[in-house]
Amino acid sequence: MVKKTNASIVLIDEEVMMADEEFIVSKTDLRGNITYANRVFLEMALYSEAEIVHQNHNIIRHPDMPKGVFKFLWQTLKQEQEFFGFVKNLRKDGRYYWVFANVTPEYNQAGKLAGFYSVRRKPPASAINIIEPIYQAMLAIEKKATSNKQAEQQSLDYLVAQLQALEVEYQDLVISLYNAKS
Ligand SMILES: Cc1cc2nc3c(=O)[nH]c(=O)nc-3n(C[C@H](O)[C@H](O)[C@H](O)COP(=O)(O)O)c2cc1C
Repeated sequence: MVKKTNASIVLIDEEVMMADEEFIVSKTDLRGNITYANRVFLEMALYSEAEIVHQNHNIIRHPDMPKGVFKFLWQTLKQEQEFFGFVKNLRKDGRYYWVFANVTPEYNQAGKLAGFYSVRRKPPASAINIIEPIYQAMLAIEKKATSNKQAEQQSLDYLVAQLQALEVEYQDLVISLYNAKS
């Protein structure tokens, strides 16, 4: 299979909003390779089903997203817990869209972990206003790091320290930001 890359996409600093009532849904295998994407996913990311299925979810990864967030996502999923978070995604045309994502483990009939399932909704602008500077600070830390491993660990440490200062758990913070009015 030919591995698609988004490295050739020219970034356009323009946001495309999800509709209020819509859900972006996808399923992946254990490695994050897409096995299913709904119509809204395809319309927002601007890929056809054939282009996206079997590709890794990082096909829509935006370079403004800190590695530390994905480290936390995978840490959470490996513990078979559900993840909530705000993600800036890259469209095929170079523009971006923010989502509030919930990712959960999926089990087969034998009760064994078989993959992951994600549902995203439109996030309130007020949440993005709070999350964006945190992500920018994480990215700045990652740029100074000497290795990828150090980058994701140091920026995740920063996120954890921010949360400790606010005396909140990550999940509680993102859920309360999502529930706040925009
Ligand atoms: C169910 C599921 C949904 C995901 N959704 C996204 C997503 O919407 N955007 C994204 O950039 N990464 C998403 N990821 C994470 C990607 O698999 C990947 O870890 C991330 O894009 C970072 O890629 P990189 O480590 O190759 O830079 C998802 C993973 C899973 C398991």
